[in-house]
Amino acid sequence: MNYRSLAFLACSSLLFSCGNESPPAAESSTETVIEAEENTPVPSSESEEINGSEDAAPGDTLFVEIEANDQMKYSTDRIDAYIGQVVSLTLKNVGEMPKEAMGHNWTLLRKGADFQDYASKAMLAKEDDFLPADLMGEVVAHTALLGPGESETITFEVPEEAGPYKFLCTFPGHFGTMQGLFFVRQ
Ligand code: CO
Repeated sequence: MNYRSLAFLACSSLLFSCGNESPPAAESSTETVIEAEENTPVPSSESEEINGSEDAAPGDTLFVEIEANDQMKYSTDRIDAYIGQVVSLTLKNVGEMPKEAMGHNWTLLRKGADFQDYASKAMLAKEDDFLPADLMGEVVAHTALLGPGESETITFEVPEEAGPYKFLCTFPGHFGTMQGLFFVRQ
């Protein structure tokens, strides 16, 4: 096994770790991930789909499409963006269960936000569609809460501070499996 394979294996576990409670990967590790991906075929599955492009330039619009389903999963758990880009993000709820039981949103928290604390409080804010009004300072951008077959496109500027940001669905009980990394680069 050569160095590249080792790097890829190490980075694969990093990618998978984005879906749990471990801290986001440091920038240096993330750069290694991308280098490895350029040289190594990546098994394609919905959960590993990566949005964003190394070819993107500031001023571009970054189009992102994410599906959310009845299995409490997003179709992507990582988005890469550059400062200066505008993000046009479409969330589509492809499930069939009623909104009251399986609603989904896409909520991007500010860098450094306390993910667990926000998620725990958000699930109690039913009257605000699980986006508590007094915690909107923690939120960079969000969609509405979507029911089956619904979709929404939101547009927002990439935050001007590089580094890892987290996104989640704030519907009660969903953030454990519906979360991901939004990585901002200079
Ligand atoms: Co959800």
